Amino acid sequence: MFSGKTLLITGGSRGIGKKICFEFAKRGCNIIFTYVRSSSESKKIESELLKFGVNVISKKLNLNSNDDIKKFVENIKNLDIKIDFLINNAASGVMKNSIETTEKHWDWTMQINAKGPWILSKSISKLMPSKSRIINISSPGSTKVLNNYFSIGVSKAALESITRYMAFDLASKGINVNSISASMIETDAIKHFPNQDEIEKIISRENPKKQKLLAEDIAKAAVMLCSEESEMIIGQNILVDGGDTLLLS
Ligand SMILES: NC(=O)c1ccc[n+]([C@@H]2O[C@H](COP(=O)([O-])OP(=O)(O)OC[C@H]3O[C@@H](n4cnc5c(N)ncnc54)[C@H](OP(=O)(O)O)[C@@H]3O)[C@@H](O)[C@H]2O)c1
Repeated sequence: MFSGKTLLITGGSRGIGKKICFEFAKRGCNIIFTYVRSSSESKKIESELLKFGVNVISKKLNLNSNDDIKKFVENIKNLDIKIDFLINNAASGVMKNSIETTEKHWDWTMQINAKGPWILSKSISKLMPSKSRIINISSPGSTKVLNNYFSIGVSKAALESITRYMAFDLASKGINVNSISASMIETDAIKHFPNQDEIEKIISRENPKKQKLLAEDIAKAAVMLCSEESEMIIGQNILVDGGDTLLLS
């Protein structure tokens, strides 16, 4: 399905990003994925992905540094390949409420989750051919309140807005920009929440589909948005949650 195409994804070393790498490689897509700390794990993932007969590169990228993003983009340019799909998946953030969050926490989270993906997207878009895709990974915390999710929720709201503006600016170049909003999934990310009881309650509550949401469900939605059939889907935030956010509580 994606034979000869190339996916560039941030944060492919764990969780949802890792699953996305496998779903795309399985379909013949070459993979460039980034990590920031997990270098030995990334080497293992690289060799597993190579078994699908695709080209795989893992590279370190810290979205908290604009210099790092600039150098990373130069490296990608030097590879002299076209990037068909860019998925801004990596995220981080400080788990505090809106009163305890400091300006430093705000700047840190906004840089990694919103400004970094925007800078990366505008640079990489210059290396993207027509019929390519940019997908930003967001969360329902952009519009709803989750305890201690303040700076991340705000950064995801910014990311969804960036999605709409970039979708408008890139549509005529044949680059579709959309976001996927994932409900809660058991990955390393949610282990860092201080309110584990509340998280456990959300994770274990039954969604209307009566099926646990998995990282691979997000990966499959990304495959769908990168398929030719999604040509007219532009600037949308696609909720993937088994109907969870339809519930009042
Ligand atoms: N899990 C959920 O319930 C959930 C729900 C909604 C949305 N999401 C979104 O889905 C995406 C993936 O989440 P996840 O749960 O899979 O997270 P995760 O398991 O914590 O993985 C985070 C990934 O981002 C990378 N990363 C962290 N800080 C970075 C930085 N400063 N610069 C560049 N890369 C960095 C990590 O690299 P290293 O491995 O090298 O540290 C890792 O690959 C995020 O955008 C998250 O907000 C997750």
